[in-house]
Order: sequence, then structure tokens, then C-alpha cells
Amino acid sequence: MAPAHFLLLLLLPLASPTLFAVAATVAPGPTPAPLNLTGILDKGGQYTTLLRLLKETQVGQQLTSQLNSSFDGLTLFAPTDNAFSQLKPGTLNTLTAQQQVELVLYHVLPRFYSLTTFQMASNPLRTQASGNNGVYTVNVTSTSNQVNVSTGVNQVVVSNVLHSDFPLAVYSLDNVLLPFDLFGVKPPAAAPAPDVAPKKKPKKAPADSTASGPAAADATASGAGLKRIGWGFIAGVGFMGIMNLL
Ligand SMILES: *[C@@H]1O[C@H](CO)[C@@H](O)[C@H](O)[C@H]1NC(C)=O
Ligand SMILES: *[C@@H]1O[C@H](CO)[C@@H](O)[C@H](O)[C@H]1NC(C)=O
Ligand SMILES: *[C@@H]1O[C@H](CO)[C@@H](O)[C@H](O)[C@H]1NC(C)=O
Ligand SMILES: *[C@@H]1O[C@H](CO)[C@@H](O)[C@H](O)[C@H]1NC(C)=O
Repeated sequence: MAPAHFLLLLLLPLASPTLFAVAATVAPGPTPAPLNLTGILDKGGQYTTLLRLLKETQVGQQLTSQLNSSFDGLTLFAPTDNAFSQLKPGTLNTLTAQQQVELVLYHVLPRFYSLTTFQMASNPLRTQASGNNGVYTVNVTSTSNQVNVSTGVNQVVVSNVLHSDFPLAVYSLDNVLLPFDLFGVKPPAAAPAPDVAPKKKPKKAPADSTASGPAAADATASGAGLKRIGWGFIAGVGFMGIMNLL
């Protein structure tokens, strides 16, 4: 009698919390309509450069369909217009179309990170960009209320959470993340390089000298006009040459 009651009193408090915990587990509902990334950035009001790049590189489209099918979700670092304007003038235009795609994809992590899961992530984190040297990575260091992203070229503090709801996290940045593979090899580096032997790098000159891609858009109106006249002249001479042969 008395010992049995005693035992019951001992067991009850042990059993009940487990039962409550099981009952409190919420089953995840079906995923709603696909997220509108453009809408999220539009609402932010200060991401017109990023929106333009997402459109021009077609990465925006890619992310939209990825969001619809990904089990891991996505994290987007969104540099503000001010961040882009802090780049050295002309930086974007000196990149080839392919490099612009890489730059945009460098701001995408192929899984959803909340501020909390950033703290548990182990560096380096893969981005969605890759080049000849493989996948480009970032390192993220964070405390409960601050997240820093470093690229090996620069370190950027996450300034604002625009969206954080699986499958999509969007974090605002006051600086553009500069991937080492695109910006790390330039000579005027901030940190002194201890033992750099002078290397003769084979230069891929033709890629820079052709007037293709975004650089072409920079040509001044008069320059473009002169070029057009030039080509017209050459075409005309060529045509006359052909006529003479006939
Ligand atoms: C996303 O939002 C933008 C405006 O914020 C709108 O123009 C566009 O039609 C929306 N796209 C979809 C698929 O709802
Ligand atoms: C999302 O995926 C479903 C099937 O997985 C497909 O039927 C639908 O068209 C997709 N929607 C968009 C906007 O890509
Ligand atoms: C982030 O970087 C700033 C300086 O850039 C530093 O003061 C801060 O401690 C860093 N925070 C974390 C969590 O790494
Ligand atoms: C990133 O972190 C890894 C592992 O902690 C380290 O080996 C690497 O040097 C770091 N890279 C940068 C660019 O900070």
C-alpha cells in the first residue's frame, strides 16, 4: 500500500513531460505558393542593382525554380545599391558576362541558414558559384545577433534580415562580397604578401580586347558611331570587291 503509492509518485513526474513533448510536435504543412524573390527585394527598396543583375544574368529565374524544388532551401546575401556604388568605378563593367554570373551566384548559398543555424555551420561554406578552381566558398562567423561573412578579400557584416522563413533567407549587406577567384589576385592587396615570387602569368588578352559583353555597353556614343562607320566602310569596300569579281 504505502510503498506502491510512493513508487507511483516517483514515476509520474518522469513520464508526463515526455508525453507533453510528443504531443506538442507540430507536423509541417504543405508548402504554399512559390516565393517571390523579386517581390522581397522590391519591398526592400534599395536593391535595384542586384535586381538588375539577377535579371541580366538570369540567376533570378534560376533561383525561383530552385526555390520551388529544393529540399535544402536557399540563402541570399543581398548587397544594397549603396554597397554596389562603393565598388571601384567600372568594376561591374570590367567583368565578363560569365564573371557577373559568378559574382551573383557567389551571394547564394545552396541551403537555408537562419541566424541560429549560421552559428552551427562549419566553415568554409559552399556558395553556388564556381570557377576553374572549383566551388567558391565563404566563411561565416556569428554570434546570436551578428553575422560576418568573409571571402578572403573582404569581410562584410550582415546588416539586416529581409526574410528568414524556410526555404528562403535573405540578408542585407552594406558591401558586395568579393570572391577571391575574381578579386583576390589583383596586385594592390591590402595585406602584405610575405614571400611572393614574381610569377609570369599568361595573360588571356583576347577576352579583354573584344568589344563584347557588358564592356561594350560602355562605349561612348561617338566611339560606337565611329566604329559603325568603320565597319560600314570595310563592308562597302568588300562588297565592291566582290562586285568587281563578278
Ligand atoms: C513578384 O513581385 C513583383 C513585384 O514586387 C511582381 O512584379 C511580379 O509579378 C511578382 N511575380 C510573381 C511570380 O508573383
Ligand atoms: C513548381 O514545381 C511544381 C512541381 O514540382 C511544378 O508543377 C510547378 O510548375 C513549379 N512552379 C514554378 C513556378 O516553377
Ligand atoms: C564581425 O566583424 C567586426 C569587424 O568587422 C568585429 O568587430 C566583430 O567582432 C565580428 N563579429 C563576429 C561575430 O565575427
Ligand atoms: C575559412 O575557414 C577555413 C576553416 O576554418 C580556413 O581554413 C580558411 O583559411 C578560411 N578562409 C578564409 C578566406 O577566411
